[in-house]
Amino acid sequence: MDSGLEHQTARALLEWQLELGATEAIGDAPVNRYALGAATAPAPHTAASAATATAPQAPVAPQVVAPADPVEEARQRAEAAPDLAALSAALADFPHCDLRRGARNLVFADGNPAARVMIIGEAPGRDEDRAGLPFVGRAGQLLDRMLDAIRLSRKAETPEAAVYLTNILPWRPPQNRDPTPQEIAMMVPFMRRHVALVAPEVVVLMGNISCQAGLGRRGITRLRGQWTQAYGLPALPMFHPAYLLRKPHAKRAAWADLLDLQARLREGAGA
Ligand code: URA
Repeated sequence: MDSGLEHQTARALLEWQLELGATEAIGDAPVNRYALGAATAPAPHTAASAATATAPQAPVAPQVVAPADPVEEARQRAEAAPDLAALSAALADFPHCDLRRGARNLVFADGNPAARVMIIGEAPGRDEDRAGLPFVGRAGQLLDRMLDAIRLSRKAETPEAAVYLTNILPWRPPQNRDPTPQEIAMMVPFMRRHVALVAPEVVVLMGNISCQAGLGRRGITRLRGQWTQAYGLPALPMFHPAYLLRKPHAKRAAWADLLDLQARLREGAGA
């Protein structure tokens, strides 16, 4: 084992966490310290402790406050937002998702909130993080071309021709890693409120992270093209445009799904 390398790696990781703003070591999941029972029971009686047992004791303040439930807190903050501007502000203020510390910008949404179609992607990448807008990099440009093929655009003013675009995660994960289940769970209440405020006729779930958040399951190859329900609305899972850039053979399926979306909108989406 090369312990020199290990030391350097550990140090680099620690410095990176400090740069992101970490000030203390905590676990992934919240711990209810009041429920730990034995773990918080008084230490066993020893000779040393017996010697000080009769000395007057200053009142001891509890050392650890049970952390809030971030998902419940997200729900309360999201539900309290009366409009999209307030929801964006509530996300910006939400303290429990550490991704915000490593991101340049909060990426909230783009397009027309009056649109009949709301597209829900995964998370911003480098270009989106810089621009503060979703789907502006290569995958986003492909998405714009796909939408154009069925006469939809994020720039359109009429609801019939418009789309509204957002992501499950409003902050770019480091090195574009997949968001953790906890990060997704914290963002779902915000997305639920986001969809309720925009009130589109249909949602499109782009890729596995979006399906995980909206449907509670992954497996985009099987899910795509099958209309389902998410956030109380008709929902169409589709291949993510970034996947289509890597696997051009999947474009045929994506095209079929776009035509299906177009047909649904022509029928009147709730039908
Ligand atoms: N991929 C996404 O899911 N969203 C973006 O905004 C960019 C790339």
